[in-house]
Amino acid sequence: MSTKLKIGLFGFGCVGSGLYEVLNQSNLLNASIEKIVVKDPTKKRNLPASNFSYDPNSILDDPSINLVVELIDDADAAYEIVTTAIRKGKNVVSANKKLIAEHLAELLVLKDEFGVSFLYEAAVCASIPVIRNLEEYYNNDSLAGIEGICNGTTNYILTRLNNELKSLPAGKQAFDLVLEDAQKAGFAESDPTLDIDGFDSKYKLQILILHTFGLKTIPEDVLNLGIRHIKTDDILFAQEKGLKLRLVSFARKINDKVVAFVAPLFVKSDSFAYDINNEFNGVSIEALFSDKQVFTGKGAGSFPTASAVLSDISALQYGYKYEYKKLVNASSLAQDFELKVFVSADNVAALGKIKLLEVEEQFTSHNYAYKVGRINVSQLTHGLYRNNPDLFIAFYSESEISINNDLLAN
Ligand SMILES: NC(=O)c1ccc[n+]([C@@H]2O[C@H](COP(=O)([O-])OP(=O)(O)OC[C@H]3O[C@@H](n4cnc5c(N)ncnc54)[C@H](OP(=O)(O)O)[C@@H]3O)[C@@H](O)[C@H]2O)c1
Repeated sequence: MSTKLKIGLFGFGCVGSGLYEVLNQSNLLNASIEKIVVKDPTKKRNLPASNFSYDPNSILDDPSINLVVELIDDADAAYEIVTTAIRKGKNVVSANKKLIAEHLAELLVLKDEFGVSFLYEAAVCASIPVIRNLEEYYNNDSLAGIEGICNGTTNYILTRLNNELKSLPAGKQAFDLVLEDAQKAGFAESDPTLDIDGFDSKYKLQILILHTFGLKTIPEDVLNLGIRHIKTDDILFAQEKGLKLRLVSFARKINDKVVAFVAPLFVKSDSFAYDINNEFNGVSIEALFSDKQVFTGKGAGSFPTASAVLSDISALQYGYKYEYKKLVNASSLAQDFELKVFVSADNVAALGKIKLLEVEEQFTSHNYAYKVGRINVSQLTHGLYRNNPDLFIAFYSESEISINNDLLAN
């Protein structure tokens, strides 16, 4: 028997209004939106004003509402809404990866304490059904690794840089131009930091790591390198080797430790990531017995994201909860590891400061230089490398990764 779901919806923007439409068009008869809370009373809406409230308590204090769907764009306010709803015994569906990644451990304890369900399929790659698959389908087969293109904005930028290299201005200007276009087209936020510096991809990776390896992380645990400092010469370097650059969320089990990072990766034509273009997302799951399986689809947008929210609502009709069975045998995160890296700079002197373990290849001209070699990734967590506007850093997807046991012991 399914439970009648009385929904209190927070947010009526891109995803919230999409959910309203999708729910109306679906045959989910046993769920209805009872109240909608938004923020700005002056905003014009496509529904009568009587549908909206600006008081969160109109939902949170209403005992008849048994499901809160949180679709707002403010992670701090979302934290208050979600934790209050759980404490009041309401099930919660959210699409807010930042909120979830920043408060993972606390949210898991809280939802158990109050015996409610907390679902968030839309938070990772929107319409791609990855979380429930990791929870249910990949419940028994041991997982070796997961890789995803989880951010449409950066994938759109990298695709255009690759495809239009000849017609774009040289150096860093090409990136600035394409980012501006992405903002105009609505693919990128006016403050693009979370996307282009890899934070958005990292929040999603943290959620994937939880459901793949049963590992709870905080954002500071996982390295994120972005694409802000990419230059046309870097794209040319990739093309000359038959490679493409993609911003990848990466996690793999090596010797019982999980190696995880977000970074631009050079990918070969046989990699799933090579053919994920424009604003599309893709996730490759590697299991012990079923080998690699790839999911691709729309990682953003009103209806695609709403469809994942709808799927969570539908699952809740039958009391679905994530069971987090993998938490029991969770491995730990590798603190340091070594792999093949590419570092480039248009300020040639800046490159001299990078210490590689072995240099395989290098090039220097008056306005561009690069080095390829192996590096201890812990070096890159220092501000000197991470936020240095002179340096673009990318990893090699196929390179052997070794865990630095000396550093692990510290
Ligand atoms: N857009 C996508 O493609 C996508 C994909 C996957 C996940 N998500 C996630 O989905 C969530 C919503 O994103 P969105 O793109 O729909 O955002 P959006 O279009 O900017 O809409 C945000 C909505 O949240 C409301 N809001 C903001 N602060 C609020 C508060 N304190 N109380 C009540 N309402 C508040 C806004 O109210 P007003 O209307 O009054 O301004 C607006 O209706 C975010 O967590 C986002 O990361 C989005």
